[in-house]
Formats: sequence, structure tokens, C-alpha cells
Amino acid sequence: MAAGRALAALLAALLAASAQRLQREASFTISLHTMDNVTVTIKQKPSAPPSCRIRVRNVTRPELKIKPGNNTTFTFTCSTPEKYFIMDIEKKIDCVSGPCPFGDVHLYPPGLPRLNRTFIWDVKASTKAGLELKFTPWLKQIEPGETCPDSLSYNINSCIDQATVNIGTFCRNGSVSRVKLLGGVLMALQLPWNSPVNTSGFNIANRASIKRLCIIESILKEESSITLMSPNYPLGFPEDELMTWQFVLPSNMRASVFFHNYSLSNCERKEERVEYYIPGSPSNPEVFKLSDSQPANIAGSFNLSLQGCDQDAQNPGILRLLFQVVVQHPQVDENVTHLVDLSKEWNTTVTIHFEGWPIRTPLMSEPICLICKDPRNCDRALTLVSGAIYKISFLCKDLSRLRITAEKGISCVDLRWCQRKIYSLSVPSAITQLPIRLHKFIWKLLAPDLNSIEITSPSLKLQQHVPEQRCNTSYSYSIVSATPETELNVGVFCPGGSIEKIQMRNNITVSLKTFGKGFLNESNHQDLKMSFVPHIKDECTFTVSPEPKAKAYLQTPNWPYGLPPYVSISWYILVPSKQVARLGFSKDRMGIVCETGRAYVNIKEETPGAEETVRREDELLPQPRSMYHNFWVNVSNCKPVERTQLTLQFQVTSTEKQIDLGVILAVVAGAGVLTAIGLTVCCVKKKKKKSQDPMVGVYNPNVNTQMPGKQGLFTKGRKTNESHVYAVIDDAMVYGHLLKESNGLVSPEVDVYRPFDGPVGSLPPSPPPFSFRKDIKCSPNTEDPPALTDMDHDTYTFAHQKSGQSEDSGDTSEEKNTSTSLLEDKEQDGSVE
Ligand SMILES: *[C@@H]1O[C@H](CO)[C@@H](O)[C@H](O)[C@H]1NC(C)=O
Ligand SMILES: *[C@@H]1O[C@H](CO)[C@@H](O)[C@H](O)[C@H]1NC(C)=O
Ligand SMILES: *[C@@H]1O[C@H](CO)[C@@H](O)[C@H](O)[C@H]1NC(C)=O
Ligand SMILES: *[C@@H]1O[C@H](CO)[C@@H](O)[C@H](O)[C@H]1NC(C)=O
Ligand SMILES: *[C@@H]1O[C@H](CO)[C@@H](O)[C@H](O)[C@H]1NC(C)=O
Ligand SMILES: *[C@@H]1O[C@H](CO)[C@@H](O)[C@H](O)[C@H]1NC(C)=O
Ligand SMILES: *[C@@H]1O[C@H](CO)[C@@H](O)[C@H](O)[C@H]1NC(C)=O
Ligand SMILES: *[C@@H]1O[C@H](CO)[C@@H](O)[C@H](O)[C@H]1NC(C)=O
Ligand SMILES: *[C@@H]1O[C@H](CO)[C@@H](O)[C@H](O)[C@H]1NC(C)=O
Ligand SMILES: *[C@@H]1O[C@H](CO)[C@@H](O)[C@H](O)[C@H]1NC(C)=O
Ligand SMILES: *[C@@H]1O[C@H](CO)[C@@H](O)[C@H](O)[C@H]1NC(C)=O
Ligand SMILES: *[C@@H]1O[C@H](CO)[C@@H](O)[C@H](O)[C@H]1NC(C)=O
Repeated sequence: MAAGRALAALLAALLAASAQRLQREASFTISLHTMDNVTVTIKQKPSAPPSCRIRVRNVTRPELKIKPGNNTTFTFTCSTPEKYFIMDIEKKIDCVSGPCPFGDVHLYPPGLPRLNRTFIWDVKASTKAGLELKFTPWLKQIEPGETCPDSLSYNINSCIDQATVNIGTFCRNGSVSRVKLLGGVLMALQLPWNSPVNTSGFNIANRASIKRLCIIESILKEESSITLMSPNYPLGFPEDELMTWQFVLPSNMRASVFFHNYSLSNCERKEERVEYYIPGSPSNPEVFKLSDSQPANIAGSFNLSLQGCDQDAQNPGILRLLFQVVVQHPQVDENVTHLVDLSKEWNTTVTIHFEGWPIRTPLMSEPICLICKDPRNCDRALTLVSGAIYKISFLCKDLSRLRITAEKGISCVDLRWCQRKIYSLSVPSAITQLPIRLHKFIWKLLAPDLNSIEITSPSLKLQQHVPEQRCNTSYSYSIVSATPETELNVGVFCPGGSIEKIQMRNNITVSLKTFGKGFLNESNHQDLKMSFVPHIKDECTFTVSPEPKAKAYLQTPNWPYGLPPYVSISWYILVPSKQVARLGFSKDRMGIVCETGRAYVNIKEETPGAEETVRREDELLPQPRSMYHNFWVNVSNCKPVERTQLTLQFQVTSTEKQIDLGVILAVVAGAGVLTAIGLTVCCVKKKKKKSQDPMVGVYNPNVNTQMPGKQGLFTKGRKTNESHVYAVIDDAMVYGHLLKESNGLVSPEVDVYRPFDGPVGSLPPSPPPFSFRKDIKCSPNTEDPPALTDMDHDTYTFAHQKSGQSEDSGDTSEEKNTSTSLLEDKEQDGSVE
């Protein structure tokens, strides 16, 4: 036995701290006087190993209960009993039949083993008298499930008759100084085994009846914030009860109340409400609904009462409340009011809020900012709606932490009226003149059916924010086009670029975002306009006019996630007559593989007889090239296979024509001749085939070939603006004759079908479509003709009688209209030879 004990002691010395060894050796004697009415219970946790027991004399047991008047000596059979045992020390105090032991409450008895322990004071008292618990240090209420940093917590319950109401759970170091209760109290103090705390931290006194469930007093001396909950939270406050919170604060401090979480029960009689006694208020008590905005900026002490109702027995519901009281010094600006005149605004809401709202509520420790509609009606966020004038003030040390978010909806009720109207998308001065930073101004533009939206910036023009050319303005516009199903992020744009207008098919959200303080100065020159225009078929169309020598970077929407499947975007680039534009793509290929359909890049200069450059996703993108006339760039997507995305970027640089021409002439004079001959030969061959054979025309159903609504853009007599229409051609088109030859079939006259529902010009329309050629395909091409099935699943073939007007005649007329473009001349020459 001695040897065994020595071995155990050695093991303990190796494994445990010396203190634990001492405890293991120690025996405890707990002597309880009968008159103290204290019962000590030591309980083993289910997780305890069998070796860990309580030994009284030479008998071991899992649990020990020492009753009043008993005197017991015991030891633990293991070295770390704090891991496996807990202890309750329950004291019954009877204030009904005997004298009440008022004053400081002691942690009795002394000499207890170091175990997690719960001291319980079960006080019986008459419901005619009040009991007051006074704490040092003061307490802080915690939500159910929360724990205290030092694991020391108080749980206070009120016992009236047989019912127990949980007043709350509290940690030390808060502002709750006193809790007054009616009738009995069941008070529990939990201490961890290693706590140095050796006092209960409270005393009990009797008071006159408080005529309510309880009164909780908080003393707030400094700037602070506290959170309190109704009894039983998150369960229901007892039916038809009344309770009060008293807040004691210096008269030179201000308090604001915020109800964060509440629910109401189903009242049969009376109304659930809160009542405030506010010193100096002419209308005490001030009664509020729980749903009301609660008073703010209260000077000095006040009290707040919660009144329940008679609940519906069948469906009582739950009355509960979690609220916060914030105490601050008076703010310097509290008497400064700002006039916000939204009386002339339309369909606009303006919200002033703390930064990060509503995702992030400020931490309890952070100084808060309040926005007040009147001196006592303040909140963390204030929403103003158009049509009224507001006088607001700020209770905030640091206004830079406040933000404004505004939203304006523009829709079209009467189409005839709004199609002629130009709406200005600018931030009202009522907002820009406030000392608060504008975070976001959102315009929600709702296009009526069969109408599109056009955004212009006539004087500033827009720049697209791209990695190569970042916006460095104090604000930018993010444009998102939304159908009920999807959103297309058109891009981020800022003033000072070359984009004149953007037309979009769907409902649009334009969000102005500001960066830094510069917007205040720049807000005077806002220049964004919106109008409703006839429906366009492309998802969006950009009109770009690069300044001389400037480089415009343009990229496809939804960057960098790729253009959605089947979406078609076009850019119309204006090239003044004395300028030449250089167009270059930032990569060689589209970088996608199509699962369904085909993707194309089409480039077409807007000049009679101009060649259209067409590139499919499996071809190289065009080399940098010079453009002498206004031209179109169109990108239309297929449904790409997974993990490939169509993202294209290109630049347009505009320069004086003379210089550029000289360079090109010099180059062409040397090396261009041979290629020019090659082109000529090839194109002649193809042209002849085309005029002899019925042409097989194909139309990609996924690509919109209708022109965007852009009346007034072109002032030429003939509506040449249609000439950009992308007749997307498949190889089948170029090789149509080969297919027929090889199959030996005689097909009907087939022509290209081009749906057209745009305006019809006054002069004869240009010959049905323009020449369907792939200029680069002119060079010897050894590609095999694609299998018929290959093109059938994504293209339609239309056949109809050829009209009398031939393509050749169109080309001939255009040929006379000699262009200054050298390359173009070559190609045109070739095509009609
Ligand atoms: C406890 O010890 C006493 C004497 O010390 C002995 O008489 C008694 O039998 C022991 N009881 C048990 C259960 O070991
Ligand atoms: C004291 O309590 C112990 C343990 O419950 C018990 O064995 C003992 O008989 C009690 N003594 C008296 C005097 O009640
Ligand atoms: C408890 O018992 C011990 C010895 O067993 C004795 O010294 C002590 O005085 C007793 N205390 C009381 C309060 O009976
Ligand atoms: C004692 O209290 C601490 C802290 O509350 C806890 O982590 C530990 O599990 C408790 N021990 C037992 C035996 O309950
Ligand atoms: C202990 O309890 C008894 C019966 O409940 C009671 O008569 C007595 O006054 C209580 N003692 C104290 C100190 O409260
Ligand atoms: C309360 O304050 C004391 C002294 O500042 C500190 O030691 C203790 O950890 C604090 N307790 C809590 C729960 O914050
Ligand atoms: C509690 O502990 C402190 C030191 O930690 C000591 O000064 C004080 O006397 C103790 N109080 C009681 C009632 O034991
Ligand atoms: C408010 O109550 C709901 C429901 O009980 C809960 O999910 C939420 O966390 C509570 N919020 C706060 C701040 O306590
Ligand atoms: C509330 O405050 C008023 C005025 O200070 C006071 O008359 C009243 O007794 C207080 N009520 C409670 C329940 O504290
Ligand atoms: C604001 O006005 C009130 C009433 O006129 C005055 O009592 C208070 O001192 C003023 N506050 C400040 C910060 O000037
Ligand atoms: C007002 O704006 C909302 C969206 O913010 C929109 O749904 C509504 O149609 C607009 N009303 C008018 C008359 O423009
Ligand atoms: C634009 O929004 C309105 C109202 O929400 C809706 O009726 C209309 O269908 C939307 N238009 C488009 C193109 O999504």
C-alpha cells in the first residue's frame, strides 16, 4: 500500500504540477453549522474514470452531499479532481419565517476543494417587499450562450409563487449596479476552479415594494454602450408584467436607445409598449411602440419601462426585447442643422448611414454616429425620400465615417413622351453639398418593352476602366444590364474618354461611386444623360470617337468572366475624315472553343463596297490595321465549352491621316504588291463563282443582325448605317459551290436572308447585303469544306429568289466612288475585275 502510494506520487510528480500533487495528498474537512442552512454537493461528471472517486474514511464514492450540521473529512483518489468533479453550495435564506440576513453575502464555508463551483442563494421573501441586490464590481448582461471572459457569471432569477423568471445572466465589469426584485430570488454565482475570487460581489438589502417584476439600474459615467435584454430572453417576457431599467448618467452626457431585436406577443387586452421618464420632458411618461424609433440624445438620467399585455391564451406569441443604450458626450455639431431639399427630386431615396452599413454594424466599442431628423429622433441610418425638405443634424465626432447612398428610379410611362426626353443622370446638389461623402448613387433605368436605353456623356465622353488604362477620376460609373434572368456587367466607365454613347437592350443600373474627396469639386461637371431609344438587337452598342493621338482601350462586357453565351456586342468607331484609326487586338485569338454555335469577330468599314473581315473563334484575330472610315467591330459569342471565356480587348488609336498614309504607302510600295496580286486573283475567282452560282447564304440564329437604334447619327441620304450588319458567314458560304459540285445536286436559287426591321431609307436601299467575303480567306486556303451536319445544327439556310439587283452592280457603283484607302482600293479593284 505504501509502495503503491509512493509510485502513484512519483507518477503524479512526473505528470502533474506540484500544486496538484499537494491537493491530491490533501484531505478536506467541511463543517457545516446547522443554522447556516448550507448544503454542499460534490458531483462526479460522467466522463470521470473509475479511478477518480471521493474517499470518506476508507470508503470511496462518486458523489458526496454534506448537509447542514454535518462535519465530513474526505480526499480525492486522483490528482486532478477539478477535471471530473463539480460542486454546488446551496444556501437557503428564509426571509418569511425568520430575520433576513442582510448585508454582504459571503462565500461560505471556507476550505472548499478547488473545483468548478456554483454558489446558489435561494432567498424566500414576501411579495409585499422588495429585495435589492447591489453589486461590486458592476455587471454586464450577456446573451444566452455567451460566456464571460473570466468564466465567472451571475444568473439572477425571480421566484414569485412557484414560477421562476430568468432576469438575466451577467459577467463582472459592466454598468449594472443594482437589481431590485419582488418576492423570492434564486441567485447563482458560477466560479471556475482556479478563480482567485473569494467574495460573492454583492449584498442584499430589503426595500419597499417595487410594484413590478424588477428594476435594473445601470450607471454610465463615461462614453459607453451597453446591451440589455428583457427577462427570459430570447423566450417571452411574462404575461402582463412590468419592468423598468434605470439609467444613471451625468447630466452633461447624452444617451440614445436602439432596439435591435424584439418581437411582440398577441395581445388580447392592453398594448405592449415602452415608457420613458426623461427629465425635463414636458410629456412624461413618453410612450413608444417597440417598432418606433426610440429616443436619442437624452440629456442625463432616464428610465425605461417595458409593459406586457394580456395575451391570447391560444396563441400567446413572445414579447422580447434586446436593446442598446449608447452614451456619448454632446457633439459639437448637435445644433447645426443641414437643409436637404429633395422637394424637386423625383422617385429618389437618399440614405445617410455609418460606413459599412448595413452589412457591418459598428462595434460596441466604436464611437457611433447618429443622424437626426429632429433633436431627439436620431438613428444610425436615416432614409429621406424625394418630395420633401428635411432639416437634419449629425451627432458624430467624425463625419468622415458617414456615407450617403442614394437611388433614383427612372421608368417610362408614356412612350411617346419619354422617347423624346433626355434625362440627366447627375447627383442633386442637395446631396453634394452635405458634409458627408457620397458612397453610391444608383440610377435604376427601366426600359419599357421593345425599347432600349442609351447613355451618353456629350461633353466629357467616357473612358472604359481597363487594366491598361485605369480611371483616375474621383468618381466612376458602373453599368450593369439586367434581364429578369441574368446580369451583364457592361463595365466601369469614368468621364474623360472617347465613348460617346452606350446603347443597351435591357434594364440598366448605373452606379456612380466616388473615390476620395475630389468628387465635391468634380460634381459640378457631371455629364451623363439617358434616353429611351427604339429596341436594339445587340446586347449593347458602343459609339466611340477617339480624340486625335489618344488611345482608346475597349473590352467586352463581363470582364474578366467572359461574355455570356450567344451575346453579341458591337462598337461603332467614328473616324473623322482627316484621321486614320489604328485598330489592334490585344491577343491573337479569341481563346475559346465553342460547344454550340460559333463565335465571330466582324470588322467592317462603313464605306461603299468595304470588305468585311470575319473571324471565327478557331481563327487568328486580325492583325493591327488602319481604318479610314467609320467602322464597326462586332463580337458575337457561341456557347463556349466549360472553362473557356470570351474576353476580348482592343485598342483604337487615332492619328492624322497624312502621316499614317505616308508610312503605309512606303511599306506597300515595297512589299505590298505581291500580296495585292494574290488577293486580286483569289477574289476574282470567288466573285465569279458567286455571280454564276446561286449563293448559299447562312444566317447564324444566335447573332442579332438588326441594327441598333441610332437615328440621327448618320446624316447621309442613304441609310448606310445598316451597312454594318454582320452577315455572319460560314465556310459553307464560301464553299457553297464546292459542296454543290461534289454532291452533284441542283439547288434552287439561294440567297442570303437578312432580317431587317429598321427604318427604310428614302433612296433605293443598297443592294441586298454587301459582299460576303472573308478578305483573308482570299489567300489560298486549303481547309476542307465542313460537313453539312456540322453547320446544320447552328445555322439556318434560307432560300429565295434573287432580286433583279445584282451585287456586282452595287460594287460597280461603289467602285467609282473612289476611296482614299489604298488597301481597300486594291480589294475593290480585285473584286470587280
Ligand atoms: C475501514 O477501516 C477500518 C479501520 O481503519 C476497518 O475496520 C474497516 O473494515 C475498513 N472498512 C473497509 C470497507 O475497508
Ligand atoms: C455526515 O455526512 C456523511 C456523508 O453523507 C455521513 O456518512 C455521516 O453519517 C453524516 N454525519 C452526521 C452526523 O450526520
Ligand atoms: C469536525 O470534526 C473534526 C474532527 O473529526 C473536529 O476537529 C471539528 O471540531 C469538527 N467540527 C465541527 C464543526 O463539528
Ligand atoms: C470548469 O469550468 C471550465 C470553465 O468554465 C470548463 O472549461 C471546465 O470544463 C469545467 N470543468 C468541469 C469538470 O466541469
Ligand atoms: C434555515 O432554515 C430553517 C428552516 O427552513 C429556518 O428556520 C432558519 O431560519 C434558516 N436559517 C437561516 C440562517 O436562514
Ligand atoms: C474585470 O476587471 C478586472 C480588473 O480590471 C479584471 O482583472 C477582470 O479580468 C475583469 N473581468 C472581466 C469579466 O472583464
Ligand atoms: C480574498 O482574497 C484577498 C487576496 O486575494 C484577500 O486579501 C482577502 O482577505 C480575501 N477575502 C476573504 C473574505 O477571504
Ligand atoms: C435577434 O433574434 C434572432 C432570432 O432569435 C437571432 O437570430 C439574432 O441573432 C438576434 N440578434 C441579436 C443582435 O441578438
Ligand atoms: C423613473 O424616473 C422618474 C423620474 O426620474 C421617477 O419619478 C420614477 O420613479 C422612476 N421610475 C422608476 C421605476 O424608476
Ligand atoms: C445646443 O442647443 C441647446 C439648446 O439651445 C443647448 O442647451 C446646447 O448647449 C447646445 N449644444 C451645443 C453643443 O452647443
Ligand atoms: C421609381 O423607381 C422604382 C425603382 O427604384 C421603379 O420601380 C419605379 O417604376 C419608378 N417610378 C417612376 C414613376 O419612375
Ligand atoms: C425591366 O423592368 C421592368 C420592371 O421591373 C420589367 O417589367 C421589364 O420586363 C424589364 N425589362 C427587361 C428587358 O428586363
